[in-house]
Amino acid sequence: MTYSVAVSGASGYAGGEILRLLAAHPDIEIRTVTAHSNAGQPLIEHQPHLRSLAHLTLHDTTPEILAGHDVVFLALPHGQSGQYTDALADAPLIIDAGADHRLTSRDAWDAFYGGAFHEPWVYGVPELLTTAGKQRENLQGATRIAAPGCNASTVSLSLVPGVAAGVIDPSDIVSVLAVGPSGAGKSLKTNLLGSEILGTANPYAVGGTHRHIPEIRQALAAASSHAPDDIRISFTPVIVPMARGILATSTAPIAAGATDAQIRDAWQNAYADETFVQLLPEGHFPRTADVLGANTALMGLAVDRAANRVTVVTAVDNLVKGTAGAAVQSMNIALGLPEGRALTVNGVAP
Ligand SMILES: NC(=O)c1ccc[n+]([C@@H]2O[C@H](COP(=O)([O-])OP(=O)(O)OC[C@H]3O[C@@H](n4cnc5c(N)ncnc54)[C@H](OP(=O)(O)O)[C@@H]3O)[C@@H](O)[C@H]2O)c1
Repeated sequence: MTYSVAVSGASGYAGGEILRLLAAHPDIEIRTVTAHSNAGQPLIEHQPHLRSLAHLTLHDTTPEILAGHDVVFLALPHGQSGQYTDALADAPLIIDAGADHRLTSRDAWDAFYGGAFHEPWVYGVPELLTTAGKQRENLQGATRIAAPGCNASTVSLSLVPGVAAGVIDPSDIVSVLAVGPSGAGKSLKTNLLGSEILGTANPYAVGGTHRHIPEIRQALAAASSHAPDDIRISFTPVIVPMARGILATSTAPIAAGATDAQIRDAWQNAYADETFVQLLPEGHFPRTADVLGANTALMGLAVDRAANRVTVVTAVDNLVKGTAGAAVQSMNIALGLPEGRALTVNGVAP
């Protein structure tokens, strides 16, 4: 069977990456692409790297245009998806790359986003442990999927094994992330001009204001007996001059009595059978170049006894494993297709 697909936000970074991956998917026909201010223009004007899709024209993003497809991807600014998801009640499968359906807590939504709260959908990070098994099981046959925030899924994948196994203390997590500016989207922003980011590292959303914080607390709580409020995370992203990629360094105190072997086993056991989340051998740590273009999260782990903390360094491509790859992987699971179809573990380096 071939599934017809519509991709909204197709002129943007997330939509463009969804299209790049789907263009190589043998079970998918990309039938419709939509945009907003650029509607009416050829897709190739905005995504000149997508040569095989040069025949497509960007349409307006309306419920009528998105209706009638087997799968609809929403890759819109946060706060925009809800209106379409309500109107697309008959769509067999909708995957939202935005934040509108990620959070289970209305209070957290109000505190970090504001505006209309929409019901939470199945979270599109298959490898995440929960107290009821892997998130993958919830994705099987799902009809509504919320793809993750890129920083949020990177940090959650980094720490969930240790929280689930009780070998780290989640009340004192520190995460500092080097992030590429594509994570902030393609629309013009002065602070993301080349002259503002080349040759400099720029921290932003310092001091507990970043919108991905409640998403991380939600994921860590779902893997443990901790309430989201018991999970405290100091989260600092730093924009660095690389178009794509996230290198997240997360640390947390070692839980009382946890041995080095128990700590490493927690991560090893969580990801031993996973294709797209890989724990590197002891003493090895990832580079962002190792995952560019790949659907892989690579992580290295160190037990720092002198600091009494566990350190996890994780690299992902924000546009692949952080968004579009997670969305396509989740789609494959929901449709009963091979999970890794159209996705690669190999990065583009140097
Ligand atoms: N970038 C990432 O690494 C990343 C990672 C995880 C999740 N996400 C999520 O993915 C979503 C899209 O992000 P992005 O980075 O792709 O942003 P982007 O590059 O700025 O693209 C936004 C897209 O949405 C369209 N759009 C803007 N306003 C709209 C409206 N009112 N109605 C319909 N369409 C509208 C734009 O169309 P025009 O160009 O025609 O105006 C464009 O196609 C966001 O919710 C973001 O949080 C992004």
